[in-house]
Amino acid sequence: MTSNPRRILVGVAGGIAAYKACHLIRDFKEHGDDVSVVPTEAALNFVGAATFEALSGNPVSTTVFDAVDDVQHVALGQQADAVVIAPATADLIARLAGGRADDLLTASVLVATCPIVVVPAMHTEMWLNPATQDNVATLRRRGITVMEPAHGRLTGKDTGAGRLPEPGQIAEFARTVLAGHPVPFDWKGRKVVVSAGGTQENLDPVRYIGNRSSGRQGFALAELAAQRGADVTIVAGNTEEIPVPSGATIVRVTSTRDMEKAMNESAADADVVIMAAAVADYRPATVAGSKMKKGAADEQLAQLELVENPDILKGLVARRDGGELKKDAVIVGFAAETGDANTSVLEYAQQKFKKKGCDVLMANEVGEGKVFGQSTSAGWILRRNAEPLEVAHGSKQVVAAQILDAVNEKLAK
Ligand code: C5P
Repeated sequence: MTSNPRRILVGVAGGIAAYKACHLIRDFKEHGDDVSVVPTEAALNFVGAATFEALSGNPVSTTVFDAVDDVQHVALGQQADAVVIAPATADLIARLAGGRADDLLTASVLVATCPIVVVPAMHTEMWLNPATQDNVATLRRRGITVMEPAHGRLTGKDTGAGRLPEPGQIAEFARTVLAGHPVPFDWKGRKVVVSAGGTQENLDPVRYIGNRSSGRQGFALAELAAQRGADVTIVAGNTEEIPVPSGATIVRVTSTRDMEKAMNESAADADVVIMAAAVADYRPATVAGSKMKKGAADEQLAQLELVENPDILKGLVARRDGGELKKDAVIVGFAAETGDANTSVLEYAQQKFKKKGCDVLMANEVGEGKVFGQSTSAGWILRRNAEPLEVAHGSKQVVAAQILDAVNEKLAK
């Protein structure tokens, strides 16, 4: 719980996904936020006001004629630190785009000057209808963040675009927007390739050399690139169980050489190439066909012979410069560094930035309990011909937002 809770107005429109708003409210409450729920009249056909009141701990009304003495239709919007509307139906989006104020939710949105996140959920035909798409474009033009809906199972037997993203995903996205990163929808038509997780090098059929990378930073970058409208491919080594961002293509690989091949193939027509994976620098010179025996006469395990792996990032830069990738593809690397008495983390990272030749490099200080396997990170973003940008400690998605903004500055417009 924070001592000064943020006020989040959760708007709920009348769609079957309204039940997921309950989990969203829970998520905000568990993060210490003060939540006020404003459903539309139609939403109450799906979830009762009592449920919203119990979960939020605040009274619920739908009309501007409740609590008139408190001027509620103005107060709720004025006091909010963020407005998150999930689900937003085609009808609600149309009313928002039209600037209507015919219920408490739309009136509150007109008053709010805080960040607003609209999370659509509807059948694919309604989502793709030019009327809805125009309305969404109108909201985005006005600075409202509209999340891209997920692809998947809809209410009936149909599947397609229009599913409400999972509540945890919405909550995390809303926190990124609230942290001052509105995630613009400006990468439609761009292709982004991100590597994530750790590579593994087999020693024998049961053992491997690997590392502690969780893949969370790579997936956070992929998620936000997809939310910016890009066509995203993730080349994933070993990662935690992380949901694949909706619409993204995932290529699963094991070894560094597999990853190199998949990255080279996927990067060929990409506008942005990000090496967020923790790559095994060495691999065993030979892979035993059967399990190596402890104490065997030749004791291979006690004396492993290793050979160096290719540097995928350097290779990608060379390919771009050699004309095998798009000539203005923006290439991003990572540096996980520890400092010492003579050289700081930032200085080591600057040396690595020069060596790798990429356009942007995210430098993290690593160590016990820092970055690897954690949900937060911090460090510096290095860019060519610009000062290092300090990245304050924050969620990996908030860090991803800043990396993508640095990439955006480099993209040919
Ligand atoms: O040299 P170092 O491993 O510290 O560099 C880190 C950066 O280089 C990361 O972006 C990582 O994904 C990439 N890398 C690579 N191929 C390797 C080793 C690292 O692409 N063999």
